[in-house]
Amino acid sequence: MIELAAETAKDGFEPAKWWSGGILYHVYVRSFMDSGGDGVGDLRGAIDRLGYLSDLGVDGVWLSPIMPSPNCDWGYDVSEYLGVDPDLGTLDDLDEFIATANQLGIEVMLDLVPNHTSSEHPWFVSATSGIDSPHREYYVFADPRDDGSPPNNWLDATGEPAWTLDEASGQYYLHNYLPSQPDLNWWNEDVHAEFLRILRFWFDRGVAGFRIDVAHGIYKDRELRDDPPAIEADPHWARFGLRPVYSMNRGEVHSLFRTWRSLAEEYAKPRVLLGETWVPDVERMASFYGDGDELNLAFNFPFLFSEFEPLGLAKVVRETLSALPRGAVPVWTGSNHDVSRFPTRWARGSIKMTRMALLLLLTLPGTAVLYYGDELGAADVEVSPADQRDLMSAGRKGFQRDRARTPMLWNQKPGRGFTVPGVTPWLPFGSGKEVDVASQLGVDSSNLELARSLIRARKQFPEEALSYQELSVSAQGWRYQARGLSVFLNFSGEVQTISLPGTGDYISTGKLRLGEGTVSVGPLEAVVREKR
Ligand code: GLC
Repeated sequence: MIELAAETAKDGFEPAKWWSGGILYHVYVRSFMDSGGDGVGDLRGAIDRLGYLSDLGVDGVWLSPIMPSPNCDWGYDVSEYLGVDPDLGTLDDLDEFIATANQLGIEVMLDLVPNHTSSEHPWFVSATSGIDSPHREYYVFADPRDDGSPPNNWLDATGEPAWTLDEASGQYYLHNYLPSQPDLNWWNEDVHAEFLRILRFWFDRGVAGFRIDVAHGIYKDRELRDDPPAIEADPHWARFGLRPVYSMNRGEVHSLFRTWRSLAEEYAKPRVLLGETWVPDVERMASFYGDGDELNLAFNFPFLFSEFEPLGLAKVVRETLSALPRGAVPVWTGSNHDVSRFPTRWARGSIKMTRMALLLLLTLPGTAVLYYGDELGAADVEVSPADQRDLMSAGRKGFQRDRARTPMLWNQKPGRGFTVPGVTPWLPFGSGKEVDVASQLGVDSSNLELARSLIRARKQFPEEALSYQELSVSAQGWRYQARGLSVFLNFSGEVQTISLPGTGDYISTGKLRLGEGTVSVGPLEAVVREKR
């Protein structure tokens, strides 16, 4: 039996915080529910589906970007930080979404994009109007090298130089993503002041927190030094052969997060900061929690990118829990809008493995973030090149984001309950074999009902939401106790008969086979027992 440092982390843990140990649900607004009949999901549609989320048992919803945007990167290119994109609704719709969600006991988080704006943002329009513009220093402009080439070797998210020439001034501007997403200059105090205003504006409107886009990348090296070549041990981190230690991942960001945390804590009802901390190791990820004074939650990409096998996954869990500061809440997620969904990536289409993964995500200590459709076991949808909408992955081999962004299927009727029958959705529904809500709701053996019962079970012992004890792990199986639940995942090809501590009910991903004080778990099945 392994005793973990995280066992003691309970000391500083505050179960009263609404996200602690809870379920956050990631609504990709354009694909959740279309009320307008234009094939694009919107806020009014999402309001209509809040009852579904409440029945599922979610504590908070994170809305993908809803601010006005020319949509070169579907909202991650903001042209106005204090409004709502007309494709998605109005500020009144957002207020209603928040009020309705709150009535159902659900908090609402927005996606904040502080790393860059859209090139159509008035700050950038002003910045490129001349070098004396009051907004010039809002962005990162630099002179060419002597031969006229970009100021350094940094590459953007498509593998092209991260610099585009501003012909009028002869200087280059920086964009770590698309050229239409110029990076903000966080060495400029005016940018800090603007974002404090933005955070306050939304907090004052009842927004309960933010998912912070590119949280690890906001600051750049002040001297704009070249990134060094990547080394072999840099999976999921290297950008096109470079190690991004100067173009992003700068330590100065920690002081920014301390300031934002102080602001968030001025509010009587706790506000939450959740970072998109796309870093390769859990130590670095843990650093974003600071000393309990920076981000409240940080996405765990080492977990998401682990293979779906017990030794590696258990190792990440163990390392995460011992790396986090006392009382910090870990975050587990298997899918998002940038990576392939877990039923495809982890489970490779196997229903049994999908159900195991769902059980794992929902029984680990801390906060689980479900991406819309995860609860159904929704897999990636094949999107033909003609239907692709993502400019960042266009034409790139092995990288395709549209497949994980297709509409939520509420039923199998024309329009799939997502839009009006006959309307073409903004991304395709799929081939007709995809999972939907109507055929799972109320069906005991369905993924949706499995998710609902696991969520009910995990809510029973809130004061134990951070507890975790690994009982045993091998290539064949993984046994742990967490949050008042005993868990066994059978990764082997054989039935395994075990006894699980506890006196409470069992939840199983397969057929429940109970013996005298034992339970038999089929190959690639998992079982949970409540302690009671
Ligand atoms: C984040 C978002 C991604 C976006 C990028 C640039 O990684 O999750 O969708 O393209 O930032 O904003």
